[in-house]
Amino acid sequence: MSKQHWDATKIPDQQGKVIIVTGSTSGLGKEAVKIIAGKNAKVIMAVRNVDKGKDVVNEIQKKFKHADIDVKKLDLSNLSSIRAFANVIMENYDRLDILINNAGIMFGPYSKTVDGFENQFGTNHLGHFALTGLLMPLLKKTEASRIIALSSLAHTMGNLNFEDLNWDARKYNTQKAYGDSKISNLYFTYELARRLNKDGNHPRITAAHPGWTATDLQRNSALMSGMNKFFAQRVEMGVLPTLRAAFDENAKAGEFYGPSGIMNMRGYPVAHSSNKRSYDKARARELWKRSEEMTGVKF
Ligand SMILES: NC(=O)c1ccc[n+]([C@@H]2O[C@H](COP(=O)([O-])OP(=O)(O)OC[C@H]3O[C@@H](n4cnc5c(N)ncnc54)[C@H](OP(=O)(O)O)[C@@H]3O)[C@@H](O)[C@H]2O)c1
Repeated sequence: MSKQHWDATKIPDQQGKVIIVTGSTSGLGKEAVKIIAGKNAKVIMAVRNVDKGKDVVNEIQKKFKHADIDVKKLDLSNLSSIRAFANVIMENYDRLDILINNAGIMFGPYSKTVDGFENQFGTNHLGHFALTGLLMPLLKKTEASRIIALSSLAHTMGNLNFEDLNWDARKYNTQKAYGDSKISNLYFTYELARRLNKDGNHPRITAAHPGWTATDLQRNSALMSGMNKFFAQRVEMGVLPTLRAAFDENAKAGEFYGPSGIMNMRGYPVAHSSNKRSYDKARARELWKRSEEMTGVKF
């Protein structure tokens, strides 16, 4: 094993930092909280199921007795829940060092969010778009703050139809809808990086994907769950691209981190490219405009 690999031992002490991880009741988010809390940050778990979140805190505190973790309710498929969460954070915290937009759903049957958005696009992209916008004043106020967007190799399946973002007019294809949500995470990252650059690159936004990691995400696909034991890496490895995107001081705004190994599905994290379509600036701008209109959050 080469000494050049980036792993969690590279993360310095985070005492005094406030870090939010969305969707941290399982999988990658839970693993991220465990590691970050172990580095002495104040971690806010932003979760839709608060009881499940508290169980995670108890589990982590068995290992790190002094882990400083708050659990707060956030349902990314509901704009009023996002607004309520953002209000709680703005009222109770005077800094936000890192926002990790990790939560996600994959391959469910056709359904809509509370606000009428296709569920995967609404939760994975629009929810995090609104959350980031609402928390932006606190992120801007905090020196050297950072934002991380979780995308996926499945962004290559994405090809947004701006005439029908909610799949009202087309036969639903849940794989493509997931791909749409994950290319949207990249358009968001690249567009926000361009916009923030004008303001002196603060906060810094980067993206990550975990290759193929065994988590609860595959629950809607018997095939993928079955193949987990052959192809998926462990969550301890899958979380490293997120952590590198969040903590590597050399990470540049707009970089995309993922595993370096075979087909980018496993291995230690490196910066790499996403597909050509994801760098289309006109599509990224259009998505930004539509996301502002749909969520009512402008930034
Ligand atoms: N695992 C992989 O191979 C893989 C590959 C590419 C990308 N990713 C991305 O990695 C991220 C994390 O996924 P994971 O693999 O760790 O899956 P996971 O174990 O299913 O975790 C997903 C988390 O998101 C939460 N969540 C779902 N809907 C939510 C909502 N409406 N509001 C708030 N939280 C919500 C879940 O909460 P509950 O516990 O309440 O369900 C859970 O905590 C996702 O963005 C996913 O797209 C994963």
